[in-house]
Amino acid sequence: MTNLAVNTTLLKTVPLFSLFSDHELANLFPAIQLRSYARHSLMVRARDKTDALYIILSGKAKVVIDDGDGREVTLGTIGPSEFFGEMSLIDEKPRSASVQALEPCEVLCISKSSFMACLADNSEAAMLVLRNVIGRLREADHKIASLALMDVHGRVARLLMELAKDVSGVWVVDTGSEEIARMVGASREMVSRVLKDMREHGLIRRDKRKIIVLDRASMDQHGAIR
Ligand code: CMP
Repeated sequence: MTNLAVNTTLLKTVPLFSLFSDHELANLFPAIQLRSYARHSLMVRARDKTDALYIILSGKAKVVIDDGDGREVTLGTIGPSEFFGEMSLIDEKPRSASVQALEPCEVLCISKSSFMACLADNSEAAMLVLRNVIGRLREADHKIASLALMDVHGRVARLLMELAKDVSGVWVVDTGSEEIARMVGASREMVSRVLKDMREHGLIRRDKRKIIVLDRASMDQHGAIR
């Protein structure tokens, strides 16, 4: 982990900070550190009592809860401009989950007292934080619904549609089956069987580690909650 320099230009690239005036940013400066984390490192550990907010500048991370026996569920993934650690900051309880770097990550780390002081003076920034938390609650609601109402086939179909990115007209999922299993709350073997079945029905194909979604309409149907 290294500490690098922070400047206004860098801060203004982050939507949350773009809402702060130069004067507010100048006050925040001493409370902000720029940190680098290697792939796989834990940036926040579940149940820890710490009080800082983190904003990802580059890289991707996953939010996970584990059962202490090596089994874990992935609650979500977060990337550039997104923040994490706001829950403990606001309710003052231990960290609700761990946040682990999926790629090398550069993050801004801000001390609680300075950040809360800024939020108190800036209702637009407070609303942005609230909107993000509501967005996560919506995603969590969808996840609860799919766990309760869908079989593994439907959950995988739905997840693949969420993860697929349009790369020059090809719908590509760059997430391994182990991670998919953690995201849908099923075993890796079960997910492998479902992916094989989807391949045999022409819904997807493999391209090395990646999955290419071929039949979006059928996948949409499989992954719909009715
Ligand atoms: P905190 O509880 O402080 O530390 C773990 C962080 O993970 C938490 O704050 C949120 O920022 C983030 N987090 C928790 N649950 C989710 C979720 N379902 N989706 C995305 N991020 C989450």
